[in-house]
Amino acid sequence: MPAHPNPFFNDAQFAKFKAVDDWICSSLLPPDKGLESALQANHAADLDEIDVAPNQGKLLYLLAKMNHCKRILEVGTLGGYSSIWFAKAVPADGKVITLELEPEHATVARSNIANAGFESIVEVKVGPALETLERMGKEGGVEPFDLVFIDADKENNPGYVKWALEFSHVGTVIVVDNVARRGRVVDWENKDPALQGVRDVFELMKNEKKLECTAVQTVGSKGWDGFSVALVVA
Ligand code: SAH
Ligand code: DHB
Ligand code: MG
Repeated sequence: MPAHPNPFFNDAQFAKFKAVDDWICSSLLPPDKGLESALQANHAADLDEIDVAPNQGKLLYLLAKMNHCKRILEVGTLGGYSSIWFAKAVPADGKVITLELEPEHATVARSNIANAGFESIVEVKVGPALETLERMGKEGGVEPFDLVFIDADKENNPGYVKWALEFSHVGTVIVVDNVARRGRVVDWENKDPALQGVRDVFELMKNEKKLECTAVQTVGSKGWDGFSVALVVA
């Protein structure tokens, strides 16, 4: 079965998408024990396999590296797979703060992050991310982040982008995951709050003069989805 069954692509087509992703990864992504062990540990802990694909993780890493990012905020940790990609991208005195609702996910993530050697770089903060962000805002003294990756409960995407802007500087990159959802995002009669959260965050980004944005659809080992990229320009 494909990762995301849908009426548009059949099993053979999904197998081909996956075969190309496998070829991309085996060609261009050197083996990495920390990342691979994390996926194994996530599987053993029965976490949903909704981490970014390895080639998307590498893209996030490259985006962080090409922008010389030192401080990264992530919303949605799961087992820390994408957090490890970001930790690899920042310098030794860099910081990755990742927000996770579920204590069980955070426990797996902390173990994976330590196993990959990034205990001192990545901080996992547990709780509903909007509350954590509110607390960080109230406490004050949060240095702006250079990149924000939003990958949690999709209905709160607009709130997460507002906080990303609050904690940004000109040049901050904001990436939102899962913006195509097997095409369902444009099924306008479907009012699923997760889809609505993607539509609403596009509306917010469209109207936000501080942002220049685009989005790209993807097919591959994780099915059919997409991500948006925004740059804070003012
Ligand atoms: N970024 C991860 C995948 C994250 S999956 C990776 O690519 O490896 C989405 C995660 O968001 C799940 O672990 C889920 O528990 C978490 N989540 C859901 N609602 C949340 C909320 N309100 N606050 C923080 N995390 C939340
Ligand atoms: C889901 C969430 C994700 O962040 C993702 O990348 C894929 C799927 C989900 O909730 O189904
Ligand atoms: Mg995602």
